[in-house]
Amino acid sequence: MILMVLEIKNGIYWVGVIDWEIRDFHGYGTPYGSTYNSYLIKDKKNVLIDTAKDYMFNELIYGISKFIDPKDLDYIIVNHVEKDHSGCVDKLVEISNATIITNEKGKEHLSLYYDTKDWDFIIVDTGDEINIGDRTLKFIRTPMLHWPDNMLTYCKEEKILFSNDAFGQHIASSERFDYEIGEGIFEHAKDYFANILMPYKMLIPDAIKAVKNLDIELICPSHGVIWKEYINEIIEKYNEWAMNKTKNKAVIVYDTMYNSTKKMAHAIAEGLMEKGVEVKIYRVCETSLSRIMTEILDAKYVLVGSPTVNRNLYPEVGKFLAYMDCIRPLDKIGVAFGSYGWMECATEKIKEIFKNLGFKIVDDECLTVRFAPKEEHLKKCYEFGKRLA
Ligand code: FEO
Repeated sequence: MILMVLEIKNGIYWVGVIDWEIRDFHGYGTPYGSTYNSYLIKDKKNVLIDTAKDYMFNELIYGISKFIDPKDLDYIIVNHVEKDHSGCVDKLVEISNATIITNEKGKEHLSLYYDTKDWDFIIVDTGDEINIGDRTLKFIRTPMLHWPDNMLTYCKEEKILFSNDAFGQHIASSERFDYEIGEGIFEHAKDYFANILMPYKMLIPDAIKAVKNLDIELICPSHGVIWKEYINEIIEKYNEWAMNKTKNKAVIVYDTMYNSTKKMAHAIAEGLMEKGVEVKIYRVCETSLSRIMTEILDAKYVLVGSPTVNRNLYPEVGKFLAYMDCIRPLDKIGVAFGSYGWMECATEKIKEIFKNLGFKIVDDECLTVRFAPKEEHLKKCYEFGKRLA
């Protein structure tokens, strides 16, 4: 097995695994694959920070073995129990009898996945420190970023923040550091933020405050590349994304049976563009839901169009709405539109989701049409787009 491993700082190693082929991460489209970053600190105590999905155990153990005998692991830090990070913990404990360092929630969640009754635990909370020899590790709880158990681990002497899901990106790459990719890395980070952290973004400012007090030279997330060159920038971007800063931008998401709803989408878009609004249009059956959510993150307007199909939504639009309902973008202006044959139902169902999300709904009689919009109707849609802007 030929696997890349890397010393990221004196005696601290990236021993993660690259999942080149994964294309769906619990519903989040991952066209660029992903990584499960695991970090090994060699000191008087050997410490492993986070692991990988269970099917990548062989790769993980191979990477660790390049630096220590896995039997010699003393501590495994579980910053977060989701199985992309804890999937190999049980097998590693079996091999090494290592003590798990986690918080109360982490311990509880581990016990719900694994038989942990014989495991040794050290339970930590915000501010607690553990000396491992020449280094001290400090812990900061960040509940709901991404699960109730999440925490960050900070190595004071090396000025490294092991941030788990925070600041991650779902990419598989040969590059391990941000500067190797350049500024293009921010779009991957934005994609990740929009689909993983957006539901909890109101908690991010407090987490950022805690991070800003630390002297940091590296941020080592558990997915994607390590932040070295752009640390201030990525922290600033997290602040911006968490604050609901929107652009004069509209995202139009629709599906269509015989192009009636499509024609309406395009006519409204023309009106918006006429008034200088940046517009993105997606036919939902042809676009990844996660890509659409990334565009919605900083959009002021969200317009959703669907034909009525047997008193209901077009199925692909229903799937998109369910996804948006769980990602929960906030403070948007919502517009529902669509075509129907004999009973209009789709726009009402779209508006129900908008209401759940607290969107400000803008309505107009031109937003529904029976069978197909004629030229005169499309003109009204165009004028509506201009008025909306
Ligand atoms: Fe990467 Fe919430 O796990």
